[in-house]
Amino acid sequence: MLNNEAVLNALSHVMDPELHQDLVSLGMIKDLKIDGDQVSFTIELTTPSCPLKSRIENDARQAVLTMTEAKEVQINMSARVRAQKPVAVGENHFKHVIAVGSGKGGVGKSTVSVNLALALAQDGARVGLLDADIYGPNIPRMLGIDRLPDNETGGKLPLAEIYGMKVMSIGFLVQNGQPLIWRGPMLHSAIQQFITDFDWGDLDYFVVDLPPGTGDVQLSLSQTLPLTGAVIVSTPQQVAIDDAARALAMFEKLEIPVLGIVENMSYLNMPDGSKLSVFGTGGGERLAFRTGTPFLGSIPLDPEIGQGGDTGSPVVIAAQGRPSAEALLAIARKVAAEASIRTHQHQSQG
Ligand SMILES: Nc1ncnc2c1ncn2[C@@H]1O[C@H](COP(=O)(O)OP(=O)(O)OP(=O)(O)O)[C@@H](O)[C@H]1O
Ligand SMILES: [Mg+2]
Repeated sequence: MLNNEAVLNALSHVMDPELHQDLVSLGMIKDLKIDGDQVSFTIELTTPSCPLKSRIENDARQAVLTMTEAKEVQINMSARVRAQKPVAVGENHFKHVIAVGSGKGGVGKSTVSVNLALALAQDGARVGLLDADIYGPNIPRMLGIDRLPDNETGGKLPLAEIYGMKVMSIGFLVQNGQPLIWRGPMLHSAIQQFITDFDWGDLDYFVVDLPPGTGDVQLSLSQTLPLTGAVIVSTPQQVAIDDAARALAMFEKLEIPVLGIVENMSYLNMPDGSKLSVFGTGGGERLAFRTGTPFLGSIPLDPEIGQGGDTGSPVVIAAQGRPSAEALLAIARKVAAEASIRTHQHQSQG
């Protein structure tokens, strides 16, 4: 007999490959309908950036077709980002706060932050990006925006909006080229204000671009908001890897989970199809392995990344299909998957 029970039984054999649990007990099956020998339902993923979306859809279709009498299966894929407990700060709600850090400067944190945030927004999530690099705010240039909109309502301060995401940078508040000198308490209250006084609204992902190193901003942020986790960016050189290991240890001390390690500037794609390792190979992956941290992927050296950053046209938007853009997109989806996994582990334990 083709009935709800038979279909749900079939779907209870389909596993979410990352959460290691079946779709039915994860509560992902919605709107199940049966009409003659046709079955339709919705699979509600835990992130619109799910990297295994089509595999889950195929597995579900196969299971219903082989284990029940259904002849036709219609699946609607949707997503609702789940959070341990959305963090409420005034009227703002953050489901996942993800910080991007590194030990060493200039390794590509801001590049990863911008493209990560944009990739998640493009996949359909509600995303905010905070440039917390108070010493060298680069995100305005990388996105081609230089100011905040005027506050016409007098309410919460409006944020800059571009490509469907909200953006705040200390760079909007200071004049171009002026250095920023901050003392500890001032810095702490600045970080707090960026989070509470601005109109972030309800966000699925709040991406925070950190300054390099293991300093005050990291501490202030972790004291202001509970983080889902940090992404650590490194280049393959041993000195960068050493500093990344220090950053990893700092996040551990602050009890911030590390979602994974990204290796940037890993290789250069040569015209003959080969890959040239400019700065050595595999350092990021080895550090991940050694510390039991997920490896999120490598990004090739690509002049388009540099140019895109200088001209406000990030590669995931402006150079879709290029290997560097594809790498950043895949990394964003892995980050989203890792955030889902942490949330799920937390819920199953607690
Ligand atoms: N894969 C890449 N290929 C080519 N250029 C890159 C790549 N990644 C980053 N860049 C360029 O390298 C420079 C440094 O990158 P970025 O500003 O993202 O690093 P950062 O870690 O945020 O630096 P800082 O520590 O100063 O904040 C930028 O000009 C950026 O465009
Ligand atoms: Mg930066």
